[in-house]
Amino acid sequence: MTATLQSPPASGLGRHLLGIDGMSRSDLEEILDLTDTFAEIGRRPIPKVPALRGRTVATAFFENSTRTRMSFETAARRLSADTVAFSAGSSSLSKGESLRDTVEVVASYGADLLVVRHAMAGTAHRVADWTDLSVVNAGDGCHEHPTQALLDCYTLREQRGSLDGMRIAIVGDVRHSRVARSNILAFTALGAEVVLVAPATLLPPAIDGWPVTVFHELDPLLTDLDAVYLLRMQQERITEGLIPSLREYANDFGLSADRVARMRSDALVLHPGPTNRGVEISAEAAADPRSVILDQVVNGVSVRMAVLFRLLGSGQQLVAADIEPVGDDARPEGADR
Ligand code: NCD
Repeated sequence: MTATLQSPPASGLGRHLLGIDGMSRSDLEEILDLTDTFAEIGRRPIPKVPALRGRTVATAFFENSTRTRMSFETAARRLSADTVAFSAGSSSLSKGESLRDTVEVVASYGADLLVVRHAMAGTAHRVADWTDLSVVNAGDGCHEHPTQALLDCYTLREQRGSLDGMRIAIVGDVRHSRVARSNILAFTALGAEVVLVAPATLLPPAIDGWPVTVFHELDPLLTDLDAVYLLRMQQERITEGLIPSLREYANDFGLSADRVARMRSDALVLHPGPTNRGVEISAEAAADPRSVILDQVVNGVSVRMAVLFRLLGSGQQLVAADIEPVGDDARPEGADR
């Protein structure tokens, strides 16, 4: 399947978060600003607030996930929302009726918002058409992964203050990456320049019109980048021989110890996880002080708290009561009773 940056239709930031496509710079900045508040809550001894008490967040993951799912569930719990989880092996459900049945069942448990991940591009948009729930896209095939892009932007902004003028290379399997699509839109909307670095076989066939420049070699660029964003080879979506071997790919495009040593001292290394050490990233690059991979994971919870609050909160404004510590739960251990 060839996904384009334009399809399915634009999403914006209304009742749902379906994609970065359709979101303006100010939509993105609104979420990033709200994330600052939730990041502060995450640093408290007991990081839990009543903002979404009485609301239910459901997760329906038709594709495997470790960090995205845990991150949404942690975000919901920190906001005092109830959670309902549905998971399916990717093979056991057909994509038509059974998906719709599942959504109806989840809705019948009284959920207010559904976080959905599916191997088929456009699934979150279809689900949003079928239900009255708010829908958050946690990844639809090769199409979009908007909360990943938001947490990546937040991480870059946290490190640099702003993405304006940054030169960011997205390296690897762009063709099968929903993360790349969402990030190209988000990084450029926030004023960064995006460079794609990949062999021609790992670029989407229809790349004309994308706001990027393309290179087929990483080495000549290394000293001229503010950030390198590495992508995993999406083996689960690769059905043909697109590279000679993983070893050759690693030789040409992997961020080896030698390559990371040649990067600027203030450059950043990002990866959405899961990482394949020795393929797109070496153990040395992942552990380098310029790597912000763990910051991305931490920021993922804060960004998802902001998204859930923005879609489900009582109003658009956070009020003091939303973020005060939660009753007895909030007593630090050993506090007087
Ligand atoms: C990404 C995904 O699922 O698209 N992972 C994630 O959400 N943390 C990237 C990947 O799987 O390579």
